[in-house]
Amino acid sequence: PLVNTKEMFKHAYEGKYAIGAFNVNNMEIIQGIVAAAQKEKSALILQVSAGARKYASPIYLRKLVEAAIEETDLPIALHLDHGDSFEICKQCIDDGFSSVMIDGSALPFEENIALAKKVAEYAHERNVTVEAELGKLAGIEDDVNVSAEDAKFTDPDQAVEFVERSGVDSLAIAIGTSHGAYKFAGEPRLDFARLEKISALLPNYPLVLHGASSVIPKYLEMCNQYGAAIPGAKGVPEDMLREAAKWGVCKINVDTDLRMAMTAAIRKVLVEQPAEFDPRKYLGPGRDAIEEIVQNKIKNVFGCSGS
Ligand code: G3H
Ligand code: 13P
Ligand code: NA
Ligand code: ZN
Repeated sequence: PLVNTKEMFKHAYEGKYAIGAFNVNNMEIIQGIVAAAQKEKSALILQVSAGARKYASPIYLRKLVEAAIEETDLPIALHLDHGDSFEICKQCIDDGFSSVMIDGSALPFEENIALAKKVAEYAHERNVTVEAELGKLAGIEDDVNVSAEDAKFTDPDQAVEFVERSGVDSLAIAIGTSHGAYKFAGEPRLDFARLEKISALLPNYPLVLHGASSVIPKYLEMCNQYGAAIPGAKGVPEDMLREAAKWGVCKINVDTDLRMAMTAAIRKVLVEQPAEFDPRKYLGPGRDAIEEIVQNKIKNVFGCSGS
């Protein structure tokens, strides 16, 4: 069934695990993710960005997710990722999304609160859950001093005030993760002291980690082996995600790892079978690669099997 994130986060918080939130852009991506969740009997968040809506058109994505919901008995949330205005959140809510993110993280604190509150009021009347973001997603750079980190990363006291005044259901925080395939110039490091502080100040409250792909070596190497040029890509180590899930992180966002796995599998087919031009012959392996990495995350990293 289509569900909002309320119950899944409650259970994730209590069980000290996280629900995977995977970005979807087409049928094969959705099918790969859902097949993995089905095998692991896991709750699932399928999230759609503005770019995804532009690429596939909103109605196709919605109908594809509806198909997944009809085909399985898993609790699935359909979530707007990085909504940047009240209007896009409203449109998704009116279209049947069960959860939305209002990303006002680039706004001044007061404006971010006011926007999040407006979305939360509209959403809650319709049984839709809301995620907001406080802090700026950026990697930890070794040469940057503590006060610079302090300016970007989520301030624990502000997080409490933000949650109380906005009324949102979950909060994305900045502790050193970033979007894309190049997260760390040096050794991967997250500000766990900050996470623990935020988590202690917000008991029973679900936190969200964006930019949490691991850049799986197997698929990075496979991409590069078959002609890609993605040098120096680096993600968040899996043990850090396991650790974060123990400190109130109930939703972990993944897009880059899906892109890389699918691309690796497609590249392999195209290089090894140059006579092949049936899209099913490469999109199929692309879908299988997504299923494999999603199953591994659910089972071995996020710990949400059986949820
Ligand atoms: O946070 C960004 C997600 O990876 C979505 O990316 O805007 O290219 O669809 P996108
Ligand atoms: P990655 O780029 O690490 O996969 O992060 C995705 C994300 O945060 C989507 O909102
Ligand atoms: Na999101
Ligand atoms: Zn994100």
